Amino acid sequence: MNKKTLIGPFKQLLTMTGLPMKGPIADCELVVLEHAGMLVEAGKISAIGNFTELSEKSKDAIVHRLQGDHVALPGLVDAHTHICFAGSRANDYAMRNAGKSYLEIAKAGGGIWDTVVQTRNASPEELVKGIVKRANRHLKNGVTTLEVKSGYGLSITEELKMLHAIKKAKEVLNVDLIPTCLAAHMLPKDYSGSAEAYLEEISSVLFPKLLEEGLANRIDAFIEQSAFDRAQIRPYFQKAKAMGFEITVHADQFTTGGSALAVEFGAISADHLEVSTDREIELLANSKVIATALPGASLGLGCGYAPARKILDAGGALAIASDHNPGSAPMGDLLTQASLLGAFEKLTNAEVLAGITFRAAAALNLKDRGQLSEGLLADFSLFHTNHFNEILYNQGNLKPCMVWKKGELVFNKHKG
Ligand code: NIG
Ligand code: FE
Repeated sequence: MNKKTLIGPFKQLLTMTGLPMKGPIADCELVVLEHAGMLVEAGKISAIGNFTELSEKSKDAIVHRLQGDHVALPGLVDAHTHICFAGSRANDYAMRNAGKSYLEIAKAGGGIWDTVVQTRNASPEELVKGIVKRANRHLKNGVTTLEVKSGYGLSITEELKMLHAIKKAKEVLNVDLIPTCLAAHMLPKDYSGSAEAYLEEISSVLFPKLLEEGLANRIDAFIEQSAFDRAQIRPYFQKAKAMGFEITVHADQFTTGGSALAVEFGAISADHLEVSTDREIELLANSKVIATALPGASLGLGCGYAPARKILDAGGALAIASDHNPGSAPMGDLLTQASLLGAFEKLTNAEVLAGITFRAAAALNLKDRGQLSEGLLADFSLFHTNHFNEILYNQGNLKPCMVWKKGELVFNKHKG
């Protein structure tokens, strides 16, 4: 059905257009349309403008008329999550807060490996159910595009189980899922060979299957003392690039090194960056790599935020993602986390909003979303307020009242 729908009037509509991909953004640069309307056709925006003028011009459109004040924002893009998992790591959280470090807990049998064991024990159906539940919660919070990583399988069979579950969940969800293969999350404890042998096996056996079955076109690796080093990952990334995969990196979370590798390989994004120094910031800022801060991991681990202000001031492109995972970032609430990062890192509202909309879309190499303008996907959410500044000011407590995905109303708070 190719119906035309006119939605509005919006008290304010933030287009997030005309803004730079890199560097600082002042709030006064935001394009804020008052008494705006949006015309939607076949899932895309066919016009944005004054609501009254649009309704004059499109008398054949079905009108979705809003009552009261609403602010429209592009659908949020969460460019880094691990929401395919089983079990809980509430114990890790308690242990950390009682004084143990993330790495100590991992060495003592908790950490990522604990989730690997629980995820391997889960059936494919259980995994799909978990993804659907979590993704729908993100959708209600305004997220219309969600990246999801594998990485709790850590064998050919178990990584495939996760990526199949992500594909299945995608079929029943309104939120778009973007899958990423993170088989290089850590060397599985039950693997008898070397890290090099494990990575060689993954790249020669799993990579071709990912392409054949359309399971993922993004490859991620965790560069860290507890995971893999740069020398081990180089041949892995070389193979991935030669096969046409996009690269993204878990970088500079506890020790530096990952972001330099991301720049070396022309990765789409380098994520985490909590311990990036001026050297890494400079490298990232002089590259096309999107620097993705994960404030949810800082909150979950109780450690410092990525140097977001410095990254922007150096001229870098800053995205913000939730890192939703059972270990380091259990909260999974992007808007709350981005608001807090803004307050602690002194980011303008424009920079925070850019980080969870068009700059986050760039971190997934998606050009059809993250802004509201003609020809782009009609993905947006509405907040029941009279000014966009209220959204971040409420630090996540002002939730969307409606979420639209590809021109369809997929969440309406008033309808339960
Ligand atoms: O992004 N840093 C490595 N990976 C995840 C944590 C996963 C886990 O602890 O289960 C992260 O924080
Ligand atoms: Fe992560």
